[in-house]
Amino acid sequence: MKKRYLAMLLTGMMVLGGCRTTAPDPNPAPAAMEAAEPTEAAEPTETAEPTEAEAPTENAEATPTEAEEETITLKEVFGAHGMKAGTGVTAYDLRKKQMTDLILANFNSITCGNEMKPDYVLNQRKSREEGHVVVEYGKDTLAILDWCKENNMSMRGHTLVWYSQTPEWLFHEDFDIAKPLVDREELLTRMEDMIKGNFEQLETLGYIDMFYAYDVINEGWMEDGTPRSCHWYDIIGDDYFWYAFYFADKYAPESIDLYYNDYNEQFKADTLTEFVGTLTDEDGRSLIDGIGLQAHLYTSDDLDQYFEAMDTLAGAGLKMQLTELDVCLGKYQYPDDLNEDTLKEQGQFYYNLINGIFERVDDGRVQMDALTFWGTTDTASWRREYNPMLFDGKFNPKYAFYGATQVKENAGFE
Ligand code: GLA
Repeated sequence: MKKRYLAMLLTGMMVLGGCRTTAPDPNPAPAAMEAAEPTEAAEPTETAEPTEAEAPTENAEATPTEAEEETITLKEVFGAHGMKAGTGVTAYDLRKKQMTDLILANFNSITCGNEMKPDYVLNQRKSREEGHVVVEYGKDTLAILDWCKENNMSMRGHTLVWYSQTPEWLFHEDFDIAKPLVDREELLTRMEDMIKGNFEQLETLGYIDMFYAYDVINEGWMEDGTPRSCHWYDIIGDDYFWYAFYFADKYAPESIDLYYNDYNEQFKADTLTEFVGTLTDEDGRSLIDGIGLQAHLYTSDDLDQYFEAMDTLAGAGLKMQLTELDVCLGKYQYPDDLNEDTLKEQGQFYYNLINGIFERVDDGRVQMDALTFWGTTDTASWRREYNPMLFDGKFNPKYAFYGATQVKENAGFE
């Protein structure tokens, strides 16, 4: 089966070398957690496009053995647990055949890395001309949507209301940053137009049926249990959360699950569990369907603590997805050396993480219909200095891949 991979696997090389240099820090200080927050500077597409030169150096040890004769793919392994296997892509990723081959073989769900964020889809000139928010997808967004359609991919929408990668002009009178900020009523109108405009674009252009989930709000809460200060919150007030879901529920088709998505979720479980319970309409019907756990993790993270957070969040009775999974070698700001030991440790981490998730999905503790990795190869990752993905820069599977696919004997265990 999956002969497509076999050749790749047989020539697959792993990166070898030194040893782990940092200790796990299961309790990062709040400052570190805040600093760990993803920034635009780290965006995959905003940075230099990955080149071959950036690929990790290969050492001459072919890892795959006969066991890989039975090469498995993520989508099959996840499918056996009723889950889609997803990855984040950029328009750039899709220009490389080796990358698309890998994606097509392994994944059946796609999230746009950047191309459906507000700064990509809001049109300032037309918003000014028409006097209301205009959503219009550009060529990169359409390129990904078309590719997904041609390849029968399911899609997660990412993202609507966010403090980051949202143009400043959206918050100013006449869509002009030289003018004052708008008031609450106007910003609520703009929020509604933005949400409505996105779903209308998808419908009009014929893409809506691909979508099964959508991030309505991204990163709205802090680790200390307070709402993040941002224009949405500062101008509208704390009911901006409710309105975002109210509008999304109003304009999204039933078939699309509406998600709240956040990072450092293992430190926010109580806050988020309480929060999602407030998102109901006047009849008590929930306006939200799921909680998205970004899962930007480190091999130094405490998996028991992570599972505890998942179990707490499951108590909200909603669906849950890992939406941006990557597991960095080392800890925040201290990448481990890339070597045989650290790669094995990463393989084990992926194995244990996915294993714990499958257990929870199978016994019904957690309702998870998809898990998305935030990219495919190390060199195309936004955290490439930590080598967090399942495949190396030469498109070869790492121990991490075998961990994620539950092939324990190749996942780096001794
Ligand atoms: C956050 C966002 C993603 C992306 C990453 C960095 O996790 O949700 O869309 O911007 O940061 O790549």
